[in-house]
Amino acid sequence: MKKRVFSGIQPTGDIHIGNYLGAIRNWVLSQVELDNIFCIVDLHAITVSQDPGVLKVKIREVAGLLFAAGINTAESAVFIQSHIPAHSELTWILNCFTPMGWMRRMTQFKEKSQRHKEEVSVGLFDYPVLMAADILLYDTDVVPVGEDQKQHVELARDIAQRFNFIFGETLKVPEVTIPEVGARIMGLDDPTQKMSKSEDGPGRVIYLLDSPDDIRSKIKRATTDSRREIRFDESRPGICNLLVIYELFTGLGRTEIEARWEGKGYGDFKRELAEVVVEGLSPLQSRYRELTADSTYIDSLLAEGMRRILPIAEKTLAAVKDKVGLG
Ligand code: TYM
Repeated sequence: MKKRVFSGIQPTGDIHIGNYLGAIRNWVLSQVELDNIFCIVDLHAITVSQDPGVLKVKIREVAGLLFAAGINTAESAVFIQSHIPAHSELTWILNCFTPMGWMRRMTQFKEKSQRHKEEVSVGLFDYPVLMAADILLYDTDVVPVGEDQKQHVELARDIAQRFNFIFGETLKVPEVTIPEVGARIMGLDDPTQKMSKSEDGPGRVIYLLDSPDDIRSKIKRATTDSRREIRFDESRPGICNLLVIYELFTGLGRTEIEARWEGKGYGDFKRELAEVVVEGLSPLQSRYRELTADSTYIDSLLAEGMRRILPIAEKTLAAVKDKVGLG
């Protein structure tokens, strides 16, 4: 039996190389050994304000990008969260068994509620419980995410354990996996800030659909430091972040990379890095254009994914309702 993987991505903003290197690429690399479910989390997206027309378009765009990056329907089910009502229903039930104290510790809520001060909704606070419901509905063994989602997956584990403690074994307790390299890709203009869909200062983020010229100019302007050595040195976050991106796109080892750039300058390194990223994204960009040429194709893949996994979600929800005494 293959282990079951579940992970999700928000259809807000544009997908960037942080999402790709921290998550999507790893989903693709381990796809064959695992039983995979990937969710486009539109219910999470509406925890902050969205333009309805844009959101609908972005949902299909993210799906197109996942398939273009190499997710295939033979190994993986990709679906839209709101198409399976069990996500919302299980969230409500889990809400009733999640202590407020656990929720108040969530660091992403603290950051996001600072950013969206005037419009902090109950939904934004409850976001981690919805995420727990996503994961727990599918008897998930592993949840591969970037570092920023680790605390949320740990909360999902705590919620499952608490539910099982109260009602007896019902929910599988998942493991979180974070990549050794690339778990936190930083902003190009400010390497102390995470590369993020929601906080795009000019030149901070390289999007998967950026043109070659945009990629070149963003990398050229990336913040480094006044030193010269090109080394994986975490005390120099700018050059270190660029080296991590180089490492992941080229597949070269760290010693080899440092030897290759010994005695050379940041300018030459940035020029080569830009070409490596342009070439690395080019196959994905052309597959994306092919896949989205027929506007109904992506929807048909999503419907197929949804049909395959719906029975798993319904079975878990029925078991939970039964344990709690509903119906
Ligand atoms: P989201 O949409 O913000 O990001 C999708 C994935 O990309 C990773 N990521 C990064 N990795 C490295 N460096 C970065 N700068 C970077 N930025 C983002 C994220 O860690 C994530 O793995 N709440 C989730 C979506 C979600 C989910 C789930 C995930 C909803 N339900 C259930 C796993 C399981 C989110 O907003 O991801």
